Formats: sequence, structure tokens, C-alpha cells
Amino acid sequence: MRDEMRAYLDAPFNRLGTHCEKWDGLERYFGRSDLIAMWVADMDFPTVPQVKQALVERAEHAIYGYTDNSEAEREAEAAWLLRRHGLRVEKEWMLYSPGVVDSLHFCVDALTAPGDGIVIQTPVYGPFFSSVSQFGRKIVESPLKRDGEAGWVMDYEDLERAFEGGVKMLLLCSPHNPIGRVWRREELQRLVDLANRYGVIVVADEIHAEFTFDGHRQTRILSLDGADRCVMLTSATKSFNLAGLRHSTIIVPDEKLRDALKEELARAHADMSNIFGSIAQTAAYTYGDEWMDAVVEYIRENRDYAVSFLREKLPEIGCRPQEGTYLMWLDFSALGMSHEAVMKMLVDEAHVAMNSGLFFGESGRGWFRLNLATQRANVTAALENLYKAIRSR
Ligand SMILES: Cc1ncc(COP(=O)(O)O)c(C=O)c1O
Repeated sequence: MRDEMRAYLDAPFNRLGTHCEKWDGLERYFGRSDLIAMWVADMDFPTVPQVKQALVERAEHAIYGYTDNSEAEREAEAAWLLRRHGLRVEKEWMLYSPGVVDSLHFCVDALTAPGDGIVIQTPVYGPFFSSVSQFGRKIVESPLKRDGEAGWVMDYEDLERAFEGGVKMLLLCSPHNPIGRVWRREELQRLVDLANRYGVIVVADEIHAEFTFDGHRQTRILSLDGADRCVMLTSATKSFNLAGLRHSTIIVPDEKLRDALKEELARAHADMSNIFGSIAQTAAYTYGDEWMDAVVEYIRENRDYAVSFLREKLPEIGCRPQEGTYLMWLDFSALGMSHEAVMKMLVDEAHVAMNSGLFFGESGRGWFRLNLATQRANVTAALENLYKAIRSR
């Protein structure tokens, strides 16, 4: 990474008073504001300079009417997917939605029927549960299994049992939040082959796809053999720190599935983008390469630092270097405290705001999630605080 880029990412910031959930929301969510915010999955890094410039230029115009998603926007995303991921997608496969969680909702509502079973692999990002249950579909949990070498693996026998039982859809998290796996091509191919055998639609939430480390490359679901009935959810908002702009893409090669989703989006009046989201995404996919590489490197360094710190000074906290995402999944169960007592200790003694593992389902009890997409100084301070809080008990 160039020195200028490191300085850009490393510069101290103040997000207070910017309508920012992660820092301004501390009091509301944790009951006190004097915490280091290591929770909500956004980054404390300023976005790509050309994105800011494009937004400022558009803001100057002062008429913010309804949006026409341009060909340039589709071309920029298609070019990014080809350049960065070797994936070729047709522009007409792309639909826009306000967010990836919204897209999960739309897929569930449009492509399954009330009462249908839908598989989620737990522990998993909380809205996977509600996306299924709020539409009257049945959650079929297929727990991920602990595995010595890889950390966590899919349970194919369990998945096959669920598929045999007639489930209609699987919501895949790839890379997986919170356990941090970057699924290998063979793992995903096996999953898609199995899904095809039983006519199960795979909806892949690939919102964390840019954040992969140690030579692990994201396998885009649509690059697999027989993936023509898969749906891929992408978003520049996670990748480039634009979450407040609310914009994302649903990529659907199959015409029938695409038509059903188009109707769903139109019904929900959600098929028209936020103008700033569209503009930011186009600029990010056009100019964001160097910034993205630098951010991934910076986060990888934070991750390595956190892992060494924890292994050396707090070995009772279970951690492993995540292969992907900027989120570290930490096991506090060996402390012998209840989940609630750990949470209280984190907030009132360590003064660190982390996500409770219970947000990811009951199997997250005893676990907490640490967001590493912040300046190194914050990572250091949060870990030092944690160390002092635990050692002074
Ligand atoms: C796996 C996953 N999907 C979706 C989202 C949210 O996406 P959006 O803000 O586009 O709804 C997140 C945010 O943390 C996430 O981790």
C-alpha cells in the first residue's frame, strides 16, 4: 500500500454527530456513549476520493428527483466483476434493490410460498432468520460444524436431509458472517450440485465478497457449473463504506426467477434506486481498485495484530484468523461467565461495544463479534481495554 493511502486510512476521525449508528447510536443501544465502537458492520475509513467527488458534484445540482439507473452503472459493476472476480454477467441480469437484507426479503417472498421451508446455516447474520419467518416460511436450520482445520464446515448430510424433506430455498452467506469462512470452490460446487438435485434455489448473499485474505479468493456463486438458478446478491455499500446510501444489486441469470423478482420489486415500489447510491456505486466500481486493495491489506494487518494479541495475552478467548469479512468471531465461553455477564463486562468494564453472538442465533451464546474495520489505534485500545477488564476480575 502506498504511504499516502495508509495515511488516508489511518487518519483519526470523528464520526460523532454524523447520523452514524455505530458511534452516535452507542447510548441508545448500549446505555452509555463512552465506548469504543467495534460493532455495526461498517468501516471507520473514508471512502474512495472519487466517490466523494462524484457525490458532491451531484449534490451541487440541488434537484434530487426520481432515479434512472444508467447503462454506465450496469457497465461499471459488470466490469468490476470481470476485472476483480473473473465473472462475466449480462447487464440485463441486474436488478436494483435498496439493500441486501431487502433483497433477501424479496427473494423469499417472490420465489417461495407461505409454509415453504428455507435453509439457513447457523450461526448466521440475524436478518437471515427474520427474512424467512416474517413471510410465514419455515426456518430450517442447518448448523455449521466445528472442524479442526478449516474452523467451520457445512454439514452436507444434514443439508441433504433438509432438501429431501422438501425445502425450497437456501440462503447462503458467502463469505460467511460471523464465522469468517471464505467457502472454497469445491464446497460451493458440492452445495449447488446438491441443491440442483432437489430443485432448491440458492440465494447467495455475497455482500462481504471483497474482504478475503491470505490468498483465499471469493468464488462467486454464478461462476459455478449449473448455477443458472442461483441468485447472487451484491453491494458496493459494504465494500466501499456506503451503507447509509442504501443501494444494492440482485443478479439473476434465470429469466423466470428474474421476472418474478422484477414484479416483487415493482409491487414494493423498491425498483427505483437512491440517486446517491447509484452515483456512488458507479464511481466506486470505476475508480475503487487501489482503495479496495489498501483497505483489505489494512484489515488483514489489524486481524493479524488482534490474533497475536489474543493468543498471547488472552488465550482463554477462542479466536481464529478469519479468512474473509472484517469481522472476528470470538468465543468467550471459557471465561465461565454467562453471556449476559460477559456483555456487561464488555460494556461497563472494558468499554468496548461488540455485537452479541445471540444476534446470530442461539448457537452464538457465549460468542461476540469484533469489527476490525477501523484505525489500528482503536483496535489496540479495544484489546488493551479487554485485557485489563478480564485480568482485573
Ligand atoms: C451478511 C450480510 N448481509 C447483509 C447485510 C446488510 O446489507 P444491507 O445494508 O445492504 O441491507 C450485512 C451487514 O452487515 C451482512 O453482514
